[in-house]
Amino acid sequence: MAELNVTLRAGARDDVEAVKRLLDRSWLTTWAPELPLAAVARFAAQDGARAYVEAMVESFELAVAPDGRIVGMLHLHGDELSAMHVDPAFQGLGVGRVLLDRAEAALLDRSAQPRLEVDLSNTRALAIYRRRGWREVRRFVGDECGAPVEIAELVLVAGTRVISSGKANSSDPPGNASTERP
Ligand SMILES: CC(C)(COP(=O)(O)OP(=O)(O)OC[C@H]1O[C@@H](n2cnc3c(N)ncnc32)[C@H](O)[C@@H]1OP(=O)(O)O)[C@@H](O)C(=O)NCCC(=O)NCCS
Repeated sequence: MAELNVTLRAGARDDVEAVKRLLDRSWLTTWAPELPLAAVARFAAQDGARAYVEAMVESFELAVAPDGRIVGMLHLHGDELSAMHVDPAFQGLGVGRVLLDRAEAALLDRSAQPRLEVDLSNTRALAIYRRRGWREVRRFVGDECGAPVEIAELVLVAGTRVISSGKANSSDPPGNASTERP
């Protein structure tokens, strides 16, 4: 499938609604199917991602398509990849690779051992991280909208980073870190 040629830019206050919609769509397609209905109802009632996006949007990096549409977001916090989402309609087009290339390079500048947390049910993301050299160091039970979920903590050890084959053309959150997830 053809790749989408995205550029990265910093998030701004004007991006709140677009990024919130993106996170809602990502959460509903990746997390909601794995959770009890009560947890999904809680996400909807609390307007899921709004508080998180409003507080953090200026810390995000956004992947923008040639037509200006925001198709992905990345949130790095200290040594942690705190959130990364690609709009479900644009997944599988290389956007995640651009975001991960950027995330890993930035995190390895800050830390010898970047970390992230990922739900064990999120097999796609887990497979991508493992292929790129991230290694599991811990499992624990976290909370997703009131439902218990099994979470893996992964670390990236500098020497084991796997540089992706594709081209990178770029110059806590629903479903990622248990502490910052709405
Ligand atoms: C995980 C996610 C960010 C990936 O984004 P994406 O744009 O679909 O990914 P890409 O098309 O760039 O693919 C990235 C790489 O993973 C590979 N890949 C894709 N699906 C895969 C799978 N199921 N198993 C293994 N590798 C896979 C691709 O071939 C590509 O490899 P390459 O860089 O060597 O070419 C995206 O699916 C997403 O937003 N998911 C929901 C939110 C989420 O899970 N976030 C992470 C939570 S910790």
